[in-house]
Amino acid sequence: MTGGKLALVTGAGGGIGRAIARLALAQGWRVVLIDVQQEALARTANELGGAEHQVCDITDEAQVAALVDGLDAVPQLLVNNAGVVKFSYLLDMSVADFRRVIDIDLTGAFIMSQAVARRMREHGGSIVNISSIGGITPSLGTNAYAPGKAGLAKLSELMALEWGGYGIRVNTVSPGFIDGGMSTPVYADPKTRALRSQAVPLKRLGSEDDIAQAVMFLASDAAGYISGHNLVVDGAITHSVLSQVPRA
Ligand SMILES: NC(=O)c1ccc[n+]([C@@H]2O[C@H](COP(=O)([O-])OP(=O)(O)OC[C@H]3O[C@@H](n4cnc5c(N)ncnc54)[C@H](O)[C@@H]3O)[C@@H](O)[C@H]2O)c1
Repeated sequence: MTGGKLALVTGAGGGIGRAIARLALAQGWRVVLIDVQQEALARTANELGGAEHQVCDITDEAQVAALVDGLDAVPQLLVNNAGVVKFSYLLDMSVADFRRVIDIDLTGAFIMSQAVARRMREHGGSIVNISSIGGITPSLGTNAYAPGKAGLAKLSELMALEWGGYGIRVNTVSPGFIDGGMSTPVYADPKTRALRSQAVPLKRLGSEDDIAQAVMFLASDAAGYISGHNLVVDGAITHSVLSQVPRA
């Protein structure tokens, strides 16, 4: 497939990654969808009109190197969207599970970014890392997710510093309560859905498309002087802590 600037989207087998890929394609980008889950990836690629796709585990350096070396064009956009959350309390969880979450949510994004930036530095480009409001204010029971996502936002700042001279902009998007992807089972419960929607100052959950729009803004020329920024897309929920404090 030819035409359009090349974008890579990880974790594109469904959820937010699929929405990002769909919007990028609609905006004329050539998109390669990347995911570790072969079936979900093939299904999504089919849904998106036979989009290009590659199975790849972003935590595996050899797989990432093979993918990036095999590209027939230099990517101008990388969206590090792949991520996982495992629910358990710190005292109960295994070190192996802790390591696995950090490996996917933080180290995997580094492995992808390093491989892509080594090619991107010839012409410049843009990297957008999908963190979470969980990286700003940790959510009970989500263990390594908070430090992993906080680390990813901090890594974005460092990459912005180190790679700015190559014309590579690096930014973060931190989604809040999103109605889709890994949160689909949470919002299948109507009670939780209503309570969470009411808690958000904008009085609704965010959509996968809300995140896709923020990502593609940061990838666009309109954001040409924005680098090292963390764009929080959460309907202002992270600012509501003091309004939850009880008053007599
Ligand atoms: N949905 C939410 O409420 C929400 C909120 C804040 C942040 N996020 C973040 O948004 C991103 C997308 O999440 P989502 O909600 O669409 O979840 P999702 O589970 O639908 O998508 C994540 C994708 O990442 C893929 N993936 C996991 N490990 C991988 C690996 N090693 N290599 C390649 N791909 C891998 C999965 O197969 C999956 O398709 C994640 O980084 C998540 O942390 C989601």
